Amino acid sequence: MSEKPVDSLSQSEAAEELKRLAAEIAEHDRRYHTEDAPTISDAEYDALALRNLAIEGRFPDLVREDSPSRRVGAPPAEGFAKVRHAVPMLSLAKAYTDQDVADFIERGRRFFDRDKDLGIAFTAEPKIDGLSASLRYENGIFVQGATRGDGAVGEDITANLKTIADIPKKLQGSGWPEVIEIRGEVYMTYAEFEALKRRSAAIGGQDYVNPRNTAAGSLRQKDPAVTASRNLKFFAYAWGYTTADPAPTQYDSVQKFKEWGFKVSPLMVRAKSIDELIAHYHRIEEQRSSLGYDIDGVVYKVDQLELQRRWGFVTGEPRWAVAHKFPAEQAMTTVEKIDIQVGRTGTLAPVARLAPVTVGGVVVENVTLHNEDYIKGFDSNGQPIRDGIDVRIGDTVVIQRAGDVIPQIVRVVIDKRPADAVPYEFPHICPVCGSPATREINEKTGKEDSRRRCTGELICAAQAVEGLRHFVSRGALDIEGLGAENIDLFFNAGLVKTAADIFTLKDRRPAVTKALAGRREEQARLREAASGRTRKNVRSVEERNYEGLDKLFAAIDARREPELDRFIFALGIRHIGETTAAVLARQFSTIEELIRVGKETAKAEDPHDVFPSINGIGDTVINALRDFFGNERNDDVLDALLAQVHPKPYVVEISAGSEVSGKTVVFTGTLEKMTRSEAKAMAERLGAKVAGSVSAKTDLVVAGPGAGSKLKAASDLGIEVIDEDTWLQRIGRGG
Ligand code: IVH
Repeated sequence: MSEKPVDSLSQSEAAEELKRLAAEIAEHDRRYHTEDAPTISDAEYDALALRNLAIEGRFPDLVREDSPSRRVGAPPAEGFAKVRHAVPMLSLAKAYTDQDVADFIERGRRFFDRDKDLGIAFTAEPKIDGLSASLRYENGIFVQGATRGDGAVGEDITANLKTIADIPKKLQGSGWPEVIEIRGEVYMTYAEFEALKRRSAAIGGQDYVNPRNTAAGSLRQKDPAVTASRNLKFFAYAWGYTTADPAPTQYDSVQKFKEWGFKVSPLMVRAKSIDELIAHYHRIEEQRSSLGYDIDGVVYKVDQLELQRRWGFVTGEPRWAVAHKFPAEQAMTTVEKIDIQVGRTGTLAPVARLAPVTVGGVVVENVTLHNEDYIKGFDSNGQPIRDGIDVRIGDTVVIQRAGDVIPQIVRVVIDKRPADAVPYEFPHICPVCGSPATREINEKTGKEDSRRRCTGELICAAQAVEGLRHFVSRGALDIEGLGAENIDLFFNAGLVKTAADIFTLKDRRPAVTKALAGRREEQARLREAASGRTRKNVRSVEERNYEGLDKLFAAIDARREPELDRFIFALGIRHIGETTAAVLARQFSTIEELIRVGKETAKAEDPHDVFPSINGIGDTVINALRDFFGNERNDDVLDALLAQVHPKPYVVEISAGSEVSGKTVVFTGTLEKMTRSEAKAMAERLGAKVAGSVSAKTDLVVAGPGAGSKLKAASDLGIEVIDEDTWLQRIGRGG
């Protein structure tokens, strides 16, 4: 990768990079979720997300409204219907200084120049750091609730919103419009957040990063009972589509919301001058730490709805409102020790363990130290790195937490450094598995990577779970019913340590049943605690019939003879994505041959003496293969795996002779006999080109059930359309 290390990005480069990453990650999300056709591996995706996080950690002020990190904790929604907002959900322009606020008011004055005597009134209220939601009421009844989504289209989360006590199912009082979309913020209090963390820790459950992300995750639960257990809150502060204005002003409209049964911020005021607005900003800021929930600024809005309408909108933002942000909150504490965590890709990530301190209402005990150079304050060439800090155990540090952003160290208070504090020695050995941890040289820049990485791969427990998740993932062995969640469960229960163990799970049926039952029990208990109800007819573990289990074991067995390319990809060797795996499969035909060449290459002084020159395979991949096959500890893991699994030798199809060779093919609808990526790979092997959309260049459309617009486009263009079976026959795979 030719990417600049995060630590040497300038402010403007960082802004550019965050923008690029937001767009790129959004595009990959779309390909994965909407098109069901990801173009990068999970690991590559994670690398993008991590880079985004790292940059945000260094530049908290640059965090974008559309940042992927603001979606963290919101697992990909399954099965939420899309809702198009009748009136788009907007975001707000930001002000950071008093001068920015003065400019905002001046813009208003100039716009309303015609009415010189007009005294414009504004409202001022806290900007709640949660998730916005839109609630549609018809004749006073809550009929539909949606997330903001991209502002134009959100997701239907009505059932989950109905569990929030602050949201009336029926409006109270009278005088509400026939139809109105009430908008406001769903948030989680610190107390609730801490309680959830405690409940989760007690059962060894997941860790929660902050109240906002947790609220987001809680809203996107498939089971509303889980949402209910999170005790989310809601403030109403705006509205979208409505058949009548609630009142002539913003302030009075929000007061109406209160009469109708909503919670509204008690800190909302009406003000006439900039001085009053700024004074209120400081009043709110003073109360910030005692509110019990996150706010990240104060929102000013023009009060008269008539003036709001006249002033109007610019791209996605009202001109008549602005969010005056608070500076990041800071606190002082000490570094008690420095731990090294081994990440999913083997990266050694240093973490400072702090004396617990409250920043912005959340207790901070850990903070990332990014990497070795950051801790030293200079890089391996002795050059000082920007914001590098020379932090030592025992140091007093100032930390900050800006809104949603992960806390970070702002500076070390050198005056308070203990006399005996010594520079931190970064380990060169993986603390988890004892393998050497090295810094790679980036081939393009010739520079050392800022991260030190464990070379233990499969034998390193820290990397094992991630490796296992990858092993069963979609482009890899794709074992149905064995997703990341079950892998985690089985790994933690000691039932699956390496990939080979997956194939012997069946032999440990009672233990598997017990692990699954334990989880169900736990979930039921949590639900019970949340709802206050107790279950009747609790069946014992033995009584439960896990029909699903037979299915799971059958799905595992069905994968004992995987395609070679999938198997190679599944091994999770660094830099070997699906495409490279396919190239290797084609080149070596059998796993035995790949292993043989891999090992010889690892032994050779010059890898090029052994490894054939292959189109599309460069030194990065060759070195990765060398590392993998040269690591003797991977041998045992591979041997055990190959005792269970027999990858099919790769047979090169006669592409030139194939009927579809040279043709452009589009797959649409649901395929029943193969996955999309399988279909694509198969077609490409036969020399066809696979396109994502139908155009005049398309030769053939393979349509399964549920095919929609592409099918129509094909018939409009007179392109041949066939079903899956015909396709299989045509490529000589038909039964
Ligand atoms: S008004 C027409 N008021 O901030 C303007 N937004 O940056 C619509 N937010 O997506 C928003 N507190 O999620 C408004 N008191 C408040 C708010 C608020 C939090 C959020 C909201 C919006 C984002 C815009």
